[in-house]
Amino acid sequence: MFEVSKKIMSVVKVSAPGKIILTGEHSVVYGYPAILASVDKRLSVQIQKSTKSLTVAPAFAHGFVKKGMRIFEKAVDGKINRNLRVKFESNILIGRGMGSSAATSVSLAAALLKYFRNEWNLKEINSVAYEMEKLHHGNPSGGDNTTSTYGGFLWFRKESEKFKIFSEINIKKKIPRLFLVDSGKPKETTKDMVFFVKDLYKKNPKKIEKILCELGDITNLFLKYLLKEERVSFPGLLRENEHMLEKLGVVSSSTKKVIRKIEDIGGSAKISGAGGKTGASGVIIAYHSNPVRLKSLAKNLGLNIFGLKLGKGGVKLE
Ligand code: MEV
Repeated sequence: MFEVSKKIMSVVKVSAPGKIILTGEHSVVYGYPAILASVDKRLSVQIQKSTKSLTVAPAFAHGFVKKGMRIFEKAVDGKINRNLRVKFESNILIGRGMGSSAATSVSLAAALLKYFRNEWNLKEINSVAYEMEKLHHGNPSGGDNTTSTYGGFLWFRKESEKFKIFSEINIKKKIPRLFLVDSGKPKETTKDMVFFVKDLYKKNPKKIEKILCELGDITNLFLKYLLKEERVSFPGLLRENEHMLEKLGVVSSSTKKVIRKIEDIGGSAKISGAGGKTGASGVIIAYHSNPVRLKSLAKNLGLNIFGLKLGKGGVKLE
């Protein structure tokens, strides 16, 4: 048990970034590497002492905060006073593969550690956040929360539940200017999509293992591209990656149509994150040598498009 009263702060505000997955979604759950990058969209949480019992804004996050607090208590082996006002603010799209849930877990874990223990330790924040991520996703790889914690470009690999390796990538080759096209919020959650792939794997292990292995190869090539160790076509990598994700069945037919249209005008694109099967599939990472063409296509299709900066800082105190 720790003594809350000696360490408690009066108010703490923390923010954490969202992420995109450049390559390796789904295959990362099976031990293949992924490359992720933090983005310039952030979520913040403020924790403040209150005379009343726990209030959370927005209210839909109440259940998550309550469960998150139990996880925190378990991690620090202590009991906390729940008379708190917790307020989230965010400009990360929710449920679209941009790491909104990871940023929620990371910022809550960091804020609780700071508020109750006056501690700021990225390893500890990431480990508590990973436990919170399981509330959202069941069996996450841990890549999303690790990227939101540390920021930057990360090579990440989950060897087992308790053993994950990651390394910041010191980019030698500039990534071309990328855009996100919002295909919309998928009907399926990340948890549903991870379960869907697990089920496919059980039914057809050979076929699925082959796809996952090819996704792993694409990640290796991507790394070589970023480190300028091999001449690889960036648009080609995006296209190949998308092709394998479609083979896996995690891209809906309406999203495939959008991606084909991007390819038809000479661009390339892939989904980022868990995807979606029956409706939309979240954000699409899109590249075109002439962004004006990409923007006007998105406009014609009635889809939101926005630019983004990659590799921004991880969790921080505000
Ligand atoms: C979710 O952003 C990415 C997945 O690979 C799941 C995970 O890594 O936990 C689909």
